[in-house]
Amino acid sequence: RCRCRRVPAVLALCAVAWSCAAGPALERDQPFRVPPGWTHGGRVKPGHEVQLTFALRQRGVGRLTQLVDAVSDPRSPRYGKYLSLEQVRDLVQPSPATLMAVLKWLQGHGVETCRSVTTLDFLECRMPVSTAERLLPGAEFHRYVKGQHSVVRSPLPYAVPEELAEHIDFVGGLHRFPAERKVVSRAWAKRETESRQHYGGRAAFHLGVTPSILRKRYNMTGGDIGLLPNNSQACAQFLEQYFHQADLAEFMQLFGSSFGHRSEVDQVVGHQGKGKAGLEASLDVEYIMSTGANISTWVFSNAGRHESQEPFLAWLLLLSNMSSLPWVHSVSYGDDEDSLSRAYMERVNMEFMKAASRGLTILFASGDDGAGCRRVPGGNHTFRPSFPASSPYVTTVGGTSFKNPFLVTAEVTDYISGGGLQQRAPLLALRSPQAAAVGRFLRSASKLPPSSYYNSSGRAYPDLSALSDNYWVVTNRIPLPWVSGTSASTPVVGGMVALINDRRLQRGLAPLGFLNPALYQLREQGHDAALYDVTQGCHLSCLDGTVQGQGFCAGPAWDPVTGWGTPNFPRLLRALLAP
Ligand SMILES: *[C@@H]1O[C@H](CO)[C@@H](O)[C@H](O)[C@H]1NC(C)=O
Ligand SMILES: *[C@@H]1O[C@H](CO)[C@@H](O)[C@H](O)[C@H]1NC(C)=O
Ligand SMILES: *[C@@H]1O[C@H](CO)[C@@H](O)[C@H](O)[C@H]1NC(C)=O
Ligand SMILES: *[C@@H]1O[C@H](CO)[C@@H](O)[C@H](O)[C@H]1NC(C)=O
Ligand SMILES: *[C@@H]1O[C@H](CO)[C@@H](O)[C@H](O)[C@H]1NC(C)=O
Ligand SMILES: *[C@@H]1O[C@H](CO)[C@@H](O)[C@H](O)[C@H]1NC(C)=O
Repeated sequence: RCRCRRVPAVLALCAVAWSCAAGPALERDQPFRVPPGWTHGGRVKPGHEVQLTFALRQRGVGRLTQLVDAVSDPRSPRYGKYLSLEQVRDLVQPSPATLMAVLKWLQGHGVETCRSVTTLDFLECRMPVSTAERLLPGAEFHRYVKGQHSVVRSPLPYAVPEELAEHIDFVGGLHRFPAERKVVSRAWAKRETESRQHYGGRAAFHLGVTPSILRKRYNMTGGDIGLLPNNSQACAQFLEQYFHQADLAEFMQLFGSSFGHRSEVDQVVGHQGKGKAGLEASLDVEYIMSTGANISTWVFSNAGRHESQEPFLAWLLLLSNMSSLPWVHSVSYGDDEDSLSRAYMERVNMEFMKAASRGLTILFASGDDGAGCRRVPGGNHTFRPSFPASSPYVTTVGGTSFKNPFLVTAEVTDYISGGGLQQRAPLLALRSPQAAAVGRFLRSASKLPPSSYYNSSGRAYPDLSALSDNYWVVTNRIPLPWVSGTSASTPVVGGMVALINDRRLQRGLAPLGFLNPALYQLREQGHDAALYDVTQGCHLSCLDGTVQGQGFCAGPAWDPVTGWGTPNFPRLLRALLAP
């Protein structure tokens, strides 16, 4: 048997050594990168307790793929006939052989405290570090610290015994760090350069985006508010982001006079700390409740509290463990696609398919780095897609700004708007609803970046957009201007989808569920006016000699910068009430 020497500096050596070990590494392609700002806090003591998440091999993958297609496609006779969580369990639950093998293995190591989920395809177990290191040869737990946050991770790859490899997709809690969001700093930097460029350096007064500006731009009237008590919407927070009810109340007092609304979040799932409110958390809640006005709102808060958990994974587990959930989820969270293993991304896609089969709409922010840039030492750079924005089973929201910042008029690309094409092969066979739209764009775009920067056959995003620039947010009782990012546009679209669900439920129709098949059919069905086409502007990318900071450019119809464009609410509502 090969053994890893216990020195982080020999990481490369270790990876080589493990390929000759008896046990296969599960996530060979998972890089270990300590993100900027985190410092190494030393090895964790053997008795320290860690919490690991075992993603057990599911069944029914092919069947689930077909089912998602059928229930999400308005042309299908099964459209809207969603599954209950129990039906999803019956479809995907691991085989008895898988459950037996994994439980025997864990019990053999004295691991007794495990929790499962309704669908039986995850196990979350607590154990001392010494046990975890025996269970997963190669792993070695260290602490990493950033401010008040601390996580426990293994800089070295882990393996599992040969006979377990076919039963486990991956083990969570070893390598991936929680991704972070920052909206405001970027906004300030941006505003400065922009005002210098466009307004000759004078500190430009700007209208700023408020709920009434959004409702005006997207043609929402006072009557466009939720009416049903049993409809709901949610946003998810990770990494110690809190909102305060008092901020929300003040925000609605300042900005909510023109429409019926609620001023309180109905349900918080998870842990809400007592600390200062986070800007992102305030933003999400305040804006999903402005377009999705008078709709019951939930917040999923810091699902992953244990320092060895992956908060995003913990949220996915919650979804698989709650039979009754809001129909719409707005999530502003993303990792660079190249920082994740293929096994992890495939499994996360499966989780989104499970959600889609239940009729949940999952919206992700497209990110704030345009096409992104992956620097390849000694080679050519490529764009850098963000995941789960690039997952084929979510609806991804990009960003725009007003063409004239003083008027509520046409929108152009917000140059930070995340977008592009998934670099790595589409993970699961999807009868892609978007293939035609993407093909048309790639054939007809007037200026495309060199094809070496992206993979023209990948899933392309975003799917649609909304304003992402210059929002007003109340946080810690203070109204702040100039908050920007697709973290703003995503809850705005989320609220509108929830409102359309309200109208559909009133008519006895099913909620919209996974939106993309319907979205990509709007034009074919003659609903051209359901979205305002955004055709101007390009987003950011690599600052190099070849592309010089420019990624893709918006154009007529769908594009990988703003998707299909921004909602014209009454028209979108009419179109989506039809099927
Ligand atoms: C899932 O829910 C059940 C029942 O409420 C609970 O016992 C279990 O601990 C939950 N699982 C996880 C991973 O939290
Ligand atoms: C929506 O707003 C635009 C611009 O304000 C306007 O031209 C249009 O007539 C409005 N109504 C509909 C249903 O599109
Ligand atoms: C808000 O929604 C509730 C149901 O949740 C409904 O009873 C009420 O009439 C709505 N408010 C307005 C102003 O329509
Ligand atoms: C929600 O309420 C409406 C109106 O009362 C009803 O028609 C619908 O069936 C309900 N939907 C669910 C999912 O309970
Ligand atoms: C980099 O790009 C140039 C021009 O597109 C190409 O000729 C060259 O082969 C590329 N180099 C590598 C290492 O891929
Ligand atoms: C691009 O995507 C295709 C399939 O969609 C895949 O086969 C190929 O490996 C990808 N290319 C790269 C460089 O990852």
